[in-house]
Amino acid sequence: MAESAELILDGKSISLPVIEGTEHEKAFDIGKLRDQTGYVTLDSGYKNTGATKSAITFLDGEEGILRYRGYPIEQLAEQSSFIEVAYLLIYGKLPTQAELDNFSNQITKHTLVHEDVRKIFDGFPSAAHPMAILSSLICSLTAFYPESVSPDLSKEDTDLNVIRLMAKISTIAAWTYKNNMGHPLNYPRNDLDYCSNFLYMMFSFPTEKYDIDPRIVSALNKLLILHADHEQNCSTSTVRLVGSANASLYGSVSAGINALWGPLHGGANQEVLEMLQAIQKDGGDTSKFIAKAKDKNDSFRLMGFGHRVYKNFDPRAKIIKKAADDVLAALGIDDPLLKIAQELEQAALTDEYFIERKLYPNVDFYSGIIYRAIGIPTEMFTVMFALGRLPGWIAQWKEMRENKEPIGRPRQIYTGETERDYVSIDARS
Ligand code: CMC
Repeated sequence: MAESAELILDGKSISLPVIEGTEHEKAFDIGKLRDQTGYVTLDSGYKNTGATKSAITFLDGEEGILRYRGYPIEQLAEQSSFIEVAYLLIYGKLPTQAELDNFSNQITKHTLVHEDVRKIFDGFPSAAHPMAILSSLICSLTAFYPESVSPDLSKEDTDLNVIRLMAKISTIAAWTYKNNMGHPLNYPRNDLDYCSNFLYMMFSFPTEKYDIDPRIVSALNKLLILHADHEQNCSTSTVRLVGSANASLYGSVSAGINALWGPLHGGANQEVLEMLQAIQKDGGDTSKFIAKAKDKNDSFRLMGFGHRVYKNFDPRAKIIKKAADDVLAALGIDDPLLKIAQELEQAALTDEYFIERKLYPNVDFYSGIIYRAIGIPTEMFTVMFALGRLPGWIAQWKEMRENKEPIGRPRQIYTGETERDYVSIDARS
């Protein structure tokens, strides 16, 4: 007999089916609870609510495990490439060489963006945050490819949108930076792999040759892989929720980009670096900032610390910390911010406040150090996160569509006024 749980309500027994995942995570299926009892469940921030069944990413926050399609993040970060991981996430299996070549070539062929997209850049203020431009221009792709909004796309058309999005985001991302700097925009080069092409578009000038450093290409691949998916986090849930209304892939991902920009989510990587710079400017006394983070009357939080699901360690942070050491050593960079970061980490890891609350460095704590070392400006950090997270968003959007999930529509517990009569304006006090 299938396992079920019994809920006793007003002396009446209600049976709730138990759902078990392949990693033995268990859930009560409350889908029929309201019909059976009139009750809904309340879980602010969805801290304990499974919104979907998904076969893409497995995460165990207590054990510090992260796997894409079953493959450990440590192995993928060490042995794979970002494009191969993107294929894995989106299509569910590691590609053969022919499949990988085809996927990679297709992406390369679609990196050019419509010339009219260039003109949109002129409409933004020169100091616009790159994330504002990125989300707007990704959404604008629905205007350039109007057929993408159809809810009944064939598999071929969906694949074409996937390829277009994977390809064009790197050009748009690099152009947001170039545009902000007032530099000429670089067109993509088809002779380069994904990460090399992105670096070329970011850092090359018509006036001088830009040498693509394979160590930087390798570090970038690693960073993008580590960010590629993270199951039902805020931006991914946003992508799925928007997509559940049959909104287009471009529109749904644009919404996800906005969610990611929030400082409690992907925007934290920019905040971490700004925090480290502020500590440095203040004289470098990390204990002062640890004290501020613990002070309940101070809104300051240690950015890059804590995570909604990792309550032991963030496996991505472990890999990134080592990558940061390697990149800095390879490039011969002695970054004083890294020392502040290390001091902060050491102090926090031995402090009762952080231990009690299980607050450990997360993925964003060290990623900024690497981005800085490879020349990415601080304002672009969250754009880099978006670039990395894109295959995850695509995979989750596609899975949601293929599983024909219903439109997302949470319930609420209303706490406002009960019914009252309208009062004309001259009778109001
Ligand atoms: N510094 C100081 N105290 C903290 C921090 C922090 N970074 N994070 C959580 N706390 C405290 C918080 O004040 C609360 O204390 P108390 O129980 O005394 O009220 C307790 O720890 C639990 O915090 P919470 O806000 O209920 O935890 P949450 O699971 O809702 O929030 C978080 C998770 C990531 C939003 C939060 O830890 C945070 O704001 N961290 C800093 C921002 C950050 O680094 N975000 C990036 C997350 S990783 C990238 C990604 O996947 O998006």
